[in-house]
Amino acid sequence: MRGLVSAMYRSITLAGTRTPGRETDRSDTGHLIGAVSLHIDAWDYLAAELGYWIGVPWWNKGFATEAANAVLRFAFERLRLARITACHLEENPASGRVMQKIGMTRQPLPRVAEKGGQPIRLIDYLLTRETWSAKRIVNRWKASPLALVT
Ligand SMILES: CC(C)(COP(=O)(O)OP(=O)(O)OC[C@H]1O[C@@H](n2cnc3c(N)ncnc32)[C@H](O)[C@@H]1OP(=O)(O)O)[C@@H](O)C(=O)NCCC(=O)NCCS
Repeated sequence: MRGLVSAMYRSITLAGTRTPGRETDRSDTGHLIGAVSLHIDAWDYLAAELGYWIGVPWWNKGFATEAANAVLRFAFERLRLARITACHLEENPASGRVMQKIGMTRQPLPRVAEKGGQPIRLIDYLLTRETWSAKRIVNRWKASPLALVT
């Protein structure tokens, strides 16, 4: 996915640019359909929190997963970060599904926080560079023609 990367206050946003019906047209860079952000921890420069949103008309087309994967690669290969965290509201399973699809591991216990005076339950996810690298090697091996021989 082509995108605009901007860095401000240790936070990076990748903006997607596709139009319905032209998903495979790599020259289509004129439309903002969502964003993925990476907020680097102020106290731990090897860690960052991943966030994303996609405009409603483009939901469930794989865009968040594709863009988040691109940002993960940037975070681990270029920024050399060690850990990426993400969290979602318990009542937002689509966001959790994206975290699962990009290889993040759900943490065992929900976290209780507060929003507008009301308690909210958050589900935390974690991905380390070691786990990400190992999964990439396994996926490459599965996609290799040699895998068919065995
Ligand atoms: C969460 C969000 C970014 C997902 O974007 P998206 O481009 O639709 O995500 P993808 O298409 O890559 O993947 C969505 C997955 O969630 C699944 N899904 C959608 N609705 C779901 C639901 N109610 N319950 C469980 N899974 C659901 C889809 O089936 C898909 O999984 P699949 O590929 O296994 O079928 C988008 O819905 C959004 O912007 N929501 C509002 C902002 C937000 O919640 N941001 C995250 C804050 S933590």
